[in-house]
Amino acid sequence: MAKDNLIAPSILSADFARLGEEVDNVLASGADIVHFDVMDNHYVPNLTIGPLVCEALRKHGVTADIDVHLMVKPVDRIVPDFAAAGASYITFHPEASEHVDRTLQLIRGEGCKSGLVFNPATPLDVLEYVMDKVDMILLMSVNPGFGGQSFIESALTKLRQARKMIDDSGLDIRLEIDGGVKVNNIREIAEAGADTFVAGSAIFGAAESSDANDYNTVIGAMRDELAKAGS
Ligand code: DX5
Ligand code: ZN
Repeated sequence: MAKDNLIAPSILSADFARLGEEVDNVLASGADIVHFDVMDNHYVPNLTIGPLVCEALRKHGVTADIDVHLMVKPVDRIVPDFAAAGASYITFHPEASEHVDRTLQLIRGEGCKSGLVFNPATPLDVLEYVMDKVDMILLMSVNPGFGGQSFIESALTKLRQARKMIDDSGLDIRLEIDGGVKVNNIREIAEAGADTFVAGSAIFGAAESSDANDYNTVIGAMRDELAKAGS
């Protein structure tokens, strides 16, 4: 059984010059957690934000979970820094770590929830021996590196496969989807098994202005679609 649905705006599409206010506004508009994309211009061809910005959001007063999606290689060096900066979840791509089991243990050892991220072409095989060490499975429905790309349909098949693996395991694991999530496809994504929905451009781009009222409309529309899922 899937868990309660969580909407996770990706701050990659936020106005970085007003980041604290943007995060406050999406949370006040009904978002559940903050998706924090970390890119290193090495594992992915883009460069974003690091632990200092995570810490700044905490100091600003953000108390919601911060879901740190690491698109960096190597992974281990930066994990303790994000834990100290207030990360709640830390997820990473298995291709980016030489020792996946060790990295998962490191994340939990630092007091965070751990997760693995699967690119569109990456099979789920690596989960076989580490299911008990993950709190989140994140499936990419775009190739990582940029916001605003189109949803890759094969992610729906992979979601069903991951949902079955989680249910068969009986473990308490979230199933997150990232990339191209919009009001018009979130229902079918939920029906395929996701319970945590990252949306960057759909939330921060849909609003005419970046105030809380506008985010309320798009997040509310996503919730309405989620409420229809399975019916
Ligand atoms: C892409 C990032 C995503 C991105 C999603 O590498 O991991 O979180 O912000 O953006 P949208 O929702 O616009 O596809
Ligand atoms: Zn992401």
